[in-house]
Amino acid sequence: MAFETDVSELAKVVKAAEQHWWAAARSEEVTNDKPFNVNIGDMPVVLWRDNDGMARAMEDRCPHRRAPLSLGCIRSEGWIQCGYHGWSFDGEDGRLKEIPNMKDKQKYPPVYRGNAFKVEESGGFIRICNSKNAVIPAPMGETMPMAGSVDVALDHVHFVNALFDDPSLIFHIKGVYFTPYLMSELIEENGRLTMERSCQWKTPHWPAPFSPEFPITLRITTDPVTGECDILLRDDDFNELLYATLAPVPAARGVTQVRWRAKIGANRPGIMAKLMGIGKSFAVLPHIDGAALRVLKPTASIHAEELRANIVAREQAEAISDGSEKVAA
Ligand code: FES
Repeated sequence: MAFETDVSELAKVVKAAEQHWWAAARSEEVTNDKPFNVNIGDMPVVLWRDNDGMARAMEDRCPHRRAPLSLGCIRSEGWIQCGYHGWSFDGEDGRLKEIPNMKDKQKYPPVYRGNAFKVEESGGFIRICNSKNAVIPAPMGETMPMAGSVDVALDHVHFVNALFDDPSLIFHIKGVYFTPYLMSELIEENGRLTMERSCQWKTPHWPAPFSPEFPITLRITTDPVTGECDILLRDDDFNELLYATLAPVPAARGVTQVRWRAKIGANRPGIMAKLMGIGKSFAVLPHIDGAALRVLKPTASIHAEELRANIVAREQAEAISDGSEKVAA
């Protein structure tokens, strides 16, 4: 029997993701001082800001001799300059702008053009897409104030499935216990994977340690390809206690880079909900508990692969049909 590797899963995700927008950075991570390097699958990416403050992203390989552009610098013109032989590129279209010591009248060979990504920035995230035909997505809402980035030593598919099966392996909400009980299985809603989990406050339950009361609910809605998810914690009166967005990106060597933002809700009745707003309310864990992960039973995630495949196949069929209608018109 052959062992399946996660490499094929990663390749499938990244392949399906060429039309998708990946949250490659938080806004504050990208500056005009220093290039910022990330990976989307096996594609190294460099991000920076030009002198208008626009976030730019290119493949992190110089078209000359493949040196990482992130080892270079950002010039006063807003171009990125390779640290090896000093060639400079415009991040808007990847065009070669300057070669040191080249006479003005000499033309730059067009083959030396960098691979520039489309970029969209909103809600405190910078999203990039490696497709020239990508449609800019609707901007996100406000920028949530709590934020962080972690590199988790777990591949993207298993990371997202662990999120479905036991969120306590992935993130922490102050004072909240995520029970194993689901209010709703993983289902598709408007092209996203959606589930709800019953939760309890971490208070002593008396006289028995077990309580059948579940006063709070965790709702997770997830993009089927990128795994970017919106998290909502609410009580049984539908008061929204906490919101978070997690953006996991498959990086190199089985690592998932996770960027997140969160905020607590304004109306949080009850002592535990009020206490949630003091100190560290939310955090994505930088390390996965391997012992707990090893024995974790797949529950919600058992439907995930089929749901993802159905949604992706339908989106691809719709894109083909849209394209043929445009050709016919
Ligand atoms: S490798 Fe970048 S300029 Fe030569």
